[in-house]
Amino acid sequence: MHADNWANRAKQEGYRTRAVYKLEEILQKTKSLRKSQNVLDLGSAPGGWSHYIKKKSPNSEVYAIDILDMEVVDGVYFFQNSIEEIDTIDVISSKMGSFGLVISDIAPNITGINAIDIENIYELNILTLDTAAKYLNKSHGSFIMKTFQNSMLKNLRKKMELSFKIVQTFKPAASKKQSGEIFLYGAYKR
Ligand SMILES: C[S@@+](CC[C@H](N)C(=O)[O-])C[C@H]1O[C@@H](n2cnc3c(N)ncnc32)[C@H](O)[C@@H]1O
Repeated sequence: MHADNWANRAKQEGYRTRAVYKLEEILQKTKSLRKSQNVLDLGSAPGGWSHYIKKKSPNSEVYAIDILDMEVVDGVYFFQNSIEEIDTIDVISSKMGSFGLVISDIAPNITGINAIDIENIYELNILTLDTAAKYLNKSHGSFIMKTFQNSMLKNLRKKMELSFKIVQTFKPAASKKQSGEIFLYGAYKR
């Protein structure tokens, strides 16, 4: 389907962004959205993924954070903070180790200087991975993280394999082919 068609579908189905279909494909393939679980949405604005989770799994508790403000999503607890500050948000940090699903669509600002962008993406992904490993439930936690195809991807996947027994890579149909974005999935925390 063309990018515009995904956007039209999102509009028709009442979602904030076409990005929901990337998440949907991965959640369906990995069967990682359960009826009731704590979900942590990292880099959540404008709220498409949080809204999707709450709609498909109304009994789940969704906690979302972003450096940008986010319009209210009914039933979602939003905090305008950087992921670096997550441990200072008592409502979230008191639930450390209890999350069944951590999703991250975080992307750093692109400078246009390739070496710097690759480094920034890697650093943010490592921080996200460490956060997920800390906040996920050990026995049944799943993690979905956006990253990009670049020279650090293999390294990042290896780091993920140190934290999760199962690691898979996804390029969902709704993700633009030319964008270079790709998603890593991790399950069964070590
Ligand atoms: C692609 S958007 C997320 C879209 C969202 N998944 C949706 O469906 O609406 C990426 C977000 O990551 C956020 N972000 C970037 N760096 C961040 C950080 N250090 N901490 C928290 N959020 C961050 C950006 O502000 C941006 O809103």
